[in-house]
Amino acid sequence: METIDKLSSQDLIQLEDAHGAHNYHPLPVVLEKGEGVHVWDVEGKKYYDFLSAYSAVNQGHCHPKIVGAMTEQAQTLTLTSRAFYNNVLGVFEKFVTSFFDFDKVLPMNTGAEAVETAIKICRKWAYEKKGIPENEAKIIVCENNFHGRTTTIISFSNDENARKNFGPYTPGFIKIPYNDVEALEVALKEPNVAGFLVEPIQGEAGVFVPDEGYLTKAKALCEENGALFIADEVQTGIARTGKLLAVDHENVKPDMLILGKAISGGAYPVSAVLANDEIMMVIKPGQHGSTFGGNPVGAKVAMAALNVIKDEELANKAESLGQLFRTEVQKLVDKYDLLKLVRGKGLLNAVVINDTEDSSTAWDICMKLRDNGMLAKPTHGNIIRFAPPLVMTEEQLLDCVAIIDKTMAEFKK
Ligand SMILES: Cc1ncc(COP(=O)(O)O)c(C=O)c1O
Repeated sequence: METIDKLSSQDLIQLEDAHGAHNYHPLPVVLEKGEGVHVWDVEGKKYYDFLSAYSAVNQGHCHPKIVGAMTEQAQTLTLTSRAFYNNVLGVFEKFVTSFFDFDKVLPMNTGAEAVETAIKICRKWAYEKKGIPENEAKIIVCENNFHGRTTTIISFSNDENARKNFGPYTPGFIKIPYNDVEALEVALKEPNVAGFLVEPIQGEAGVFVPDEGYLTKAKALCEENGALFIADEVQTGIARTGKLLAVDHENVKPDMLILGKAISGGAYPVSAVLANDEIMMVIKPGQHGSTFGGNPVGAKVAMAALNVIKDEELANKAESLGQLFRTEVQKLVDKYDLLKLVRGKGLLNAVVINDTEDSSTAWDICMKLRDNGMLAKPTHGNIIRFAPPLVMTEEQLLDCVAIIDKTMAEFKK
C-alpha cells in the first residue's frame, strides 16, 4: 500500500493504460475517497460527483449504514454459494419482495446478469405457460436501448461500437422505436411474442424520457396480447427519478422488474429480478444461478441500502431537487447558445449540447467542469448526463449549478 500511496494521478493513469484492457475511456481524474456527494482525487482535490457511478451510488458515497452492514456481515459469513442455505438470504428475500410487492425474487450480481435472467425466465414462461413452440419465442426491445454488455444483450443493441465484431448474434428479438405505441402494437401482433423489455427512461441513450402515458399504454398492450411487460430499472430504479421506481410515475406494475446498481448503494454488486409466482416458478433447481448471487454480504448490503432510501426519503428528495435543477439549468440554456436543452426526471437529467453529434464539445465541457470541481460524463452523442447522489442538499445543488454557469462562461470551443 505504501507505494500505491505515493503514486500521482498521472502514474496511476499510466498503470491502467499499460496493464488494463482499454475497454473504457475515463475522464482523466483518479479518485481515492468518497463521502456523500463528494469524491476526492489522489492529490486531494474535492469534487461534486454528478455521475454517481452511473446511478449506483444514489445513497451517497460510503453511506455509514450501508458500509456498517457490509463490514459486519463480511466479518461473519461472506459466501456459502447456494449449495447450502444461509441465515440472511431468506430474510432478504422476504424484505425485498415486500418492498417492491412481488411474490418472488431471483438475486444475481450485475445488471447485465439480471437482464439475462429476465430474458431466460421470459422465454421459459413463453414455452411452458403460453405454449409458444420451442426456440421460437421473440422478445420486443427498443432502438437505442442499453441493457448491458453480454453477448445476448449486445445482439439486440443498435450501438455499432457495442456490437461490431462480437457476432454471431443471439436471435429472437424484434427491435422497435422507443416511445412508439403504434410500433409496439404492430410488433405484438407478430407470432410468438413472449415479452417487451424496456427502460422506463433510456439512460445511456441520453436520458430520453418517453411521453406521459407511454408506459401505461405499453403495459396495457402487453396484457391484451399475452406478453410480459419487463421493466429494466437498473438505472432508473431505487428513487433516482423521484419515485421508488420510474414506472411508479404512471402506476404501472411490470410483470418482471429488473434491479441493479443502487439496490446496494454502490457498495457491492447486487442485482435482482422480481416477478410473481406464475412467472418466477417456471425456474426449477439447476436451471439458473450464480455462485455469488444471493450471498449474505450482498443481501445485508441491499437491505441496508433500501432502508436508507426509505428512511431518508430519497425519492421525494430526488423529485424536488430534480425540479430545482431543471429550472435553474433552463436559465443557463437560455443564457448560453452552446446549451440546447435540459431534460430528465428526478435527479436523472441531461443537457444536450448545441453542436454536431461527433464533436468533442460535451467531453471538453466535462473536462472544464472537472477543473471547476464537478465530475460529469458525456453519454452517447453530445449529451452530458447529470446524476448526483440523492443525498445532496439544496445549497449544494445550487452551488453545482453555479459551477456549470461559471464553466460555460469560461468555455471556449
Ligand atoms: C438500464 C440498464 N440495464 C442494465 C445495465 C447493465 O448493468 P451492469 O453494468 O451492472 O451490468 C445498465 C448499466 O448501465 C443499465 O443502465
